[in-house]
Amino acid sequence: MRFRVCHVPIVLILGLLVGCGGGEQGEGPIVPPPPSPAEYAEKHMPSGWWGDAQKLEEGRKLFVGEANPDVNCASCHGKDGKPVKAGATDFRNPERMKLYSDSVWFWRISEGVPNTKMKGWKSKLSEDDRWKLVLFERSFGLSGKVWSVEKSQWIDAGAK
Ligand code: HEC
Repeated sequence: MRFRVCHVPIVLILGLLVGCGGGEQGEGPIVPPPPSPAEYAEKHMPSGWWGDAQKLEEGRKLFVGEANPDVNCASCHGKDGKPVKAGATDFRNPERMKLYSDSVWFWRISEGVPNTKMKGWKSKLSEDDRWKLVLFERSFGLSGKVWSVEKSQWIDAGAK
């Protein structure tokens, strides 16, 4: 009898470990995205856009479905970047998002992620609109950062 009682705390502890396992939002471990295919590798944020408050605001309107009711990224990714649908990427996490170059980010919005709920948006959104979305989504976790093509990493806006 005594033996069985002792199992209870062990089961509880195991349950806690499993429950806490996949990170804050229940997302899996951080895995770098694959490199973008050749046709996207050379695409970058249009020049002058990183600091453009107007484009950022247009990106926000697209993201939350205000600009076009057929496009509502927030319905899965959450208005404040906190995912509302299981499995949607959490843009608030800089450790994950810094692994996405501007090209990869743009590519994923354009073509989607195969076998997931993330579909491609290129038929619904112009290139400019997709770049506005990159601009807005990056503000959740990488606010104040810009992608440096030269250094191939996110750097502080204004840094050389
Ligand atoms: C129906 C739900 C849904 C909608 C709507 C949605 N997404 Fe996603 N999105 C997801 C899911 C789920 C993932 C995670 C896919 C995976 O497992 O890699 C994701 C991942 C992403 C990623 C990261 C891709 C990667 O390589 O990890 C980006 C960027 C993204 N979404 C942008 C957007 C944008 C921009 C919009 C609006 C135009 C949008 N999403 C609309 C569900 C959605």
